[in-house]
Amino acid sequence: MPAEIEVAKVQGSFVFDTENKQYIDFIMGWCVGNFGWGNPALTEKAKQFNGPDYVYPGYAYPPWDELAGLLASIAPGKLKTCFRATGGSEAVDIALQAAMVHTGRQKFVSLEGSYHGNTIGALSVGSSEYREACRNLLARCYKIKPPLGATSLDRVEKLLQREDVAAFIMEPISINLGVLIPERQFMTGLAKLCKKYGTLLIMDEVATGFGRTGTLFACEQFNLEPDILCMAKAITGGLGGMGAAIMTPAIARSMEDRGNFYSTYGWHPRSVNVAIATVQYLIENQIRLLDNVAAMSGYFDERLAHMAFKETPELRIAGLAIGVDVHDKAYASRVQAKCRRAGLLLTAEGSTLLILPALDIDQRIAGQGLDILESCV
Ligand SMILES: Cc1ncc(COP(=O)(O)O)c(C=O)c1O
Repeated sequence: MPAEIEVAKVQGSFVFDTENKQYIDFIMGWCVGNFGWGNPALTEKAKQFNGPDYVYPGYAYPPWDELAGLLASIAPGKLKTCFRATGGSEAVDIALQAAMVHTGRQKFVSLEGSYHGNTIGALSVGSSEYREACRNLLARCYKIKPPLGATSLDRVEKLLQREDVAAFIMEPISINLGVLIPERQFMTGLAKLCKKYGTLLIMDEVATGFGRTGTLFACEQFNLEPDILCMAKAITGGLGGMGAAIMTPAIARSMEDRGNFYSTYGWHPRSVNVAIATVQYLIENQIRLLDNVAAMSGYFDERLAHMAFKETPELRIAGLAIGVDVHDKAYASRVQAKCRRAGLLLTAEGSTLLILPALDIDQRIAGQGLDILESCV
């Protein structure tokens, strides 16, 4: 794929290319830069780092405990123990392994068309399309086809009642499926069925985590208490590579007893330093940030609803995860390219335009970006 732009710098909600052309960023690294690029609270902390170059994973390192404690303090339910990963795919793989080790089962259920990362494990629970190119993915991962309403629960129950499914994995609000928002009844029913048949519930919050959908984690919106939750992306605001699988103490014990896990660069000291700063920033600014997400979400909704797309789009909006399904893949891709030329970055996933702005974007910049979009539809 040819690169669309050659990046020289990023600042706030802007990307600048090597010819100093400015773009409004409605992608933010796909849910990485939730707190704006160059956020001083994070960049200053990164500059001041004077910790060790590296810590061998077999040693103790107090900032690991500090970060794990902070994550446990904001994670939903009884999630208390973190496994240290380098990114989202590795966090998902840890979650899959922990589920197999803890339950003694080998099968999974996930959503058709989903994306959970690029390792063989993560691809195995992703879209069936990946299987066409790579047949040796994990033998058994059953798929549930959206939409996710109460009627899909029958199929879920049929799969789980065999009592051989280790875990059900999904994004609670699937950004990768164009901001697919499940019905509340589906999520409550799913949690009940998982409990009934001894299947673990893994929530992949790699993209949705850290405020993106209007709550710290999207599963809070369904009062869900997952058994394992995967995080990455915005965990460092972009200043370091990191992932984490946080789980209940009982599952973590199974993993420690019978699992196999070692990550050389998982939670590198430099990444941990900025992740601590990021989570502290999020906790301290939670009310302001989430209020802004709610206000801007309404503003995007209002503006998008009045835009003259080729056909009336379906708007799927959860906080600042915004999917605009224009019902035509080629049209979506044309609009995206036109926006880029006009100085606005957004992505097109199939027939859906995805808008994922910084959580602290102000109405002036959001408005300028939307003006560009309006002139391109
Ligand atoms: C929901 C979800 N899970 C997992 C991943 C994989 O994360 P990473 O690219 O950090 O390996 C992604 C990446 O886009 C994602 O969106």
